Amino acid sequence: MRIVLATHNRHKVEEMRAILADSSDDLTDRFEILSLEDFPEIGEIIEDGATLEENARKKARTVFEKTLLVSLADDTGLEVDSLGGRPGVYSARYSGKGASYLKNNQKLLKELSGVPTSKRSATFRCVISIIGDNIDEIAVGEVKGKIGSEMRGENGFGYDPLFIPDGYEITYAEIGSKIKNRISHRSLALEQAKTILRQLVS
Ligand code: IMP
Repeated sequence: MRIVLATHNRHKVEEMRAILADSSDDLTDRFEILSLEDFPEIGEIIEDGATLEENARKKARTVFEKTLLVSLADDTGLEVDSLGGRPGVYSARYSGKGASYLKNNQKLLKELSGVPTSKRSATFRCVISIIGDNIDEIAVGEVKGKIGSEMRGENGFGYDPLFIPDGYEITYAEIGSKIKNRISHRSLALEQAKTILRQLVS
């Protein structure tokens, strides 16, 4: 069976492929995993939903309707407690027009300047929508942690240099992809997604 990862973000594709391949029951033997690189005619999908779930479902549905293949879309947000859950669903556009990973991280550091470690708690939330002919499912993964006081580490993408998962003293960007892919919000959501995909082919 062919499935499509409904994203243009190459970091997400890399992580999702690695996590799906790291399966004790060889999930990748039964699925050919495509991404939007294989469908260049599908352009950017506007993420205008009010929630992560709405955005994930919109991306997966759009790609399913265009490809007629089971489509799997991830929408992720970083919810910072002392900011009332911001940036949340607006994580990608947090620093406004022309937002970049660097500008978003800098804005987050600025908003949290002077906030003590004990009040820098945050949650990474990943919502995955799986949509196909007879399937419309949601998988969710959450990791709690805190926001560091400076950017640290070279791996990963997005807010990885600032996010320190609970149980660690180093950021996702310092932990490296092997461990990140075992413990991350995305890997927790994908574990649920794998169960759904296994049922699909069984
Ligand atoms: P979206 O899911 O593509 O809308 O991502 C929202 C924002 O969160 C973007 O700025 C991403 O870079 C960031 N983001 C998504 N996943 C991760 C992650 O695993 N680590 C760090 N930042 C992430």
